Amino acid sequence: MQDKLTQIESEALPKVAASGSLSALREIELEYLGRKGQITQILRNISQVAPADRKVVGQGANRIRQAVESGIAERRAALEEAEVQKQLSDPGFDVTRPGIHPGRGSQHPLTQVFRQLESIFSSMGFEILDGPEVETDYYNFQALNIPEHHPARDMQDTFYVESGQVLRTHTSPVQIRAMKERQPPLRVVAPGRVFRYEVTDASHENTFHQIEGLMVDRNVSVANLTGVLQHMLREVFEREVRVRLRPGYFPFVEPGFELEFGCVFCEGSGCKVCKQGGWIELLGCGLVHPNVLRESGVDPEEFTGFAFGMGVERLAMMKYGINDIRYFMSGDLRFLRQF
Ligand code: PHE
Repeated sequence: MQDKLTQIESEALPKVAASGSLSALREIELEYLGRKGQITQILRNISQVAPADRKVVGQGANRIRQAVESGIAERRAALEEAEVQKQLSDPGFDVTRPGIHPGRGSQHPLTQVFRQLESIFSSMGFEILDGPEVETDYYNFQALNIPEHHPARDMQDTFYVESGQVLRTHTSPVQIRAMKERQPPLRVVAPGRVFRYEVTDASHENTFHQIEGLMVDRNVSVANLTGVLQHMLREVFEREVRVRLRPGYFPFVEPGFELEFGCVFCEGSGCKVCKQGGWIELLGCGLVHPNVLRESGVDPEEFTGFAFGMGVERLAMMKYGINDIRYFMSGDLRFLRQF
């Protein structure tokens, strides 16, 4: 063993010093220090050395291992430096050439639509508010004029959490929070994630996004509502857009409407997107129900308000021609790279 060590000691370092390339150096490293390397073997089999010699052999082997290790590290640094110098002195090496561009990400299409919506509504004087995704039954239902056991609860299949709270089924609870926290006149939008216990298909997701709008002031009317929404659509689609209201039922508005807009794909003549009807249903809206105003501390004799709640995926699908809502949450890079 001792002899073997002496031999390794006299051989290894000169070999390292003589190695002319990184790959040759790697070979030497494996030969001595690899899993089956000569020094590794000695250390591993130290138990076979006579007990009296063990200490000397062990210490010797460790010393040589360290010497070889640092010799290799030094040689490696020198070889790498030489390689760089060689490349730099190559007359064909052009230091002014542009480097490799690191791949740049992009914003998720929903983020892009949200940013645009926020800027459109800000420009009309709306504040942007947040609300909790885990809500109480009170904010998600009761304060919105949906009492317990009211059949309207079935309109929105709800995820309940163990504490008895719900995953908000819409952004409408932020209406209540906004009115309780501040005094009218107020204009707010609340973008955010909502959840419904639903079977998914090309137009349904269990997790999606809405933007809620609320304006409360003296003499707010349906004309204000359609004016604001028409402006929003004009900005999003970058063209004139027709809108119309049809009656719709939501317990927290009276009157309540579904807002439809003239199909931006066929200009109303009928196509697959508008199912030949020429109109596309976009969102629920209406004038805030007096019960809701009252519950939130606003006097319905003095103030009126409008509210709307729009599915943002739906709008993004129209804007970008996306035909399946499930792409948004898929994380599929082939989808995301297009934006
Ligand atoms: N919260 C309703 C929904 O999710 C939409 C809505 C909001 C309707 C505000 C009227 C007023 O379906």
